[in-house]
Amino acid sequence: MSHTADLWWKNAVIYCLDVETFFDGDGDGCGDFRGLAQRVDYLDEMGVTCIWLMPFYPTPDRDDGYDITDFYGVDPRLGTKGDLVEFLRLARDRGIRVIADLVVNHTSNQHPWFQSARSSPDSPHRDWYVWRDKPPADGPEGIVFPDQEKSLWEYDEKAGQYYLHRFYKHQPDLNVTNPVVRDEIVRVLGYWIHLGLSGFRVDAVPFLLETDGALGADDLPDPHRYLRDLRAFLSRRYGEAVLLGEVNLPYPDTMRFFGDEDGDELTMCFDFIGMQQLYLSLARESAAPLAKALEERPIEPKDAQWATFVRNHDELTLDKLSDDERQEVFDAFGPEKNMQVYGRGLRRRLPSMLDGDMDRIRMVYSLLFSLPGTPVLFYGEEIGMAEELGVEGRNAVRTPMQWSDDHNGGFSPADPDQLSAPVVRGEFGPANVNVVSQVRAPDSLLSWMKLLIRRYRQCPELAWGRYQVLTHDADTVLAHRADQDGGTVVALHNFAAEPAEVTLRLDGLEPDDRLVDLIAGGSTPVEDGRMTLRLGRYGCRWLRVLKRGEVFVP
Ligand code: NOJ
Repeated sequence: MSHTADLWWKNAVIYCLDVETFFDGDGDGCGDFRGLAQRVDYLDEMGVTCIWLMPFYPTPDRDDGYDITDFYGVDPRLGTKGDLVEFLRLARDRGIRVIADLVVNHTSNQHPWFQSARSSPDSPHRDWYVWRDKPPADGPEGIVFPDQEKSLWEYDEKAGQYYLHRFYKHQPDLNVTNPVVRDEIVRVLGYWIHLGLSGFRVDAVPFLLETDGALGADDLPDPHRYLRDLRAFLSRRYGEAVLLGEVNLPYPDTMRFFGDEDGDELTMCFDFIGMQQLYLSLARESAAPLAKALEERPIEPKDAQWATFVRNHDELTLDKLSDDERQEVFDAFGPEKNMQVYGRGLRRRLPSMLDGDMDRIRMVYSLLFSLPGTPVLFYGEEIGMAEELGVEGRNAVRTPMQWSDDHNGGFSPADPDQLSAPVVRGEFGPANVNVVSQVRAPDSLLSWMKLLIRRYRQCPELAWGRYQVLTHDADTVLAHRADQDGGTVVALHNFAAEPAEVTLRLDGLEPDDRLVDLIAGGSTPVEDGRMTLRLGRYGCRWLRVLKRGEVFVP
């Protein structure tokens, strides 16, 4: 795809937040767009270049907003469309783009389309959903939330038929083989782009494209054609809009969602495999699993990008690890049953999984920003927020942002029992973990995050360049380099509590080249292309090759 104005997503810093839990601007206990607008400068100062809004649409809220009743609206609890547009304008003024969740695999069962569809076989919306007299033998397989659902098909008394629901039974799947539905989805995209969004995080992409069991499945066009059409539409309307897809599949299968070699489908895909291998590396204190994933990760199309992440709003899914590997991660980071969910993941955030070990936590975020791809942060990661296991299910990691050590962590002046979600209690609660105490503290995690973001933006090689995992003989250390346009950055990360020393060969260097340490400062000459480097406990180093006469301005 060459008809794009700007490849801003290549080295963006994406920050995911839920308006509902970010900042309460009107004091009613629920976060809102007016509150968020007051916090845009905080995100700007951190270096965030793109905000990803979790669903903000009208919803009965039985899946935290991923169950939508109006794709063209704003949930009144979060404000008005006017408030949203004011926020978009403010973000744009600070040079921050905004993308939002596009959840069109399904609707809420309260959506007027579904209510109409079930009311009669003659409803104009009947064929907007997937109906069967009885669940078909050739239908899709695999239940996403096995603790709560037993089937993908639910009988609807009023309709007198079964409908397909990939997720909860209150989320009937839209029938994307119906051209009228496709047209409507395109209108949804066009609408939000026109209002000022710069793209979408596309929910559950493989399920959206799935047509197993659809009537007349043999005659249907290639489902990827649909994704190509969406991308082409967006490119026509607004060349720099992105589609960032949730595709949690093995690498070769994920690659298909980037489209052809020019990348004519999703602009970005999350690197779910790399993320899961990262946790295996952490559990084993060995760089090998992550190194292998990086070596196996296919090269994305030229203008596309992998999105890297440590945590997101869902469970930390470990579904692509073997049973034994998953158990290793459970044993290390979530041994209690209450921490585990769906048999495949952990409802925890990173700092508590690492017992608050700051060296280790810093190392993981250094890794995130130095890995090839575009880093995506989940709100609160920058200050080291943890989960509240007292909150049910995946919502354990979706508690209010901790701004200060005041009432409700500075999130809202309302009564604690009026809050849209309870504040974290205990060791990682606002008394110890909050923005105000970290913002001017040079040694805080927030300051570390800002430094990493700054360095990441100063090193376009990391996002744009070719990368290579470097071989050496310390199993605990991941060493990789990225090269682009004559620039070279080398990053080293020690997964172990034991300090380590590695000797690396760096090919292609000149005798006068030096390596400048982008984090600690100082530089060392490179002799014969070989270097011996030391790392402390869970240490990390970023090094840039400087040619004779070049200066690095920190
Ligand atoms: C994926 C989202 O990330 C998750 O939170 C949601 O429950 C499902 N899709 C259903 O929309």
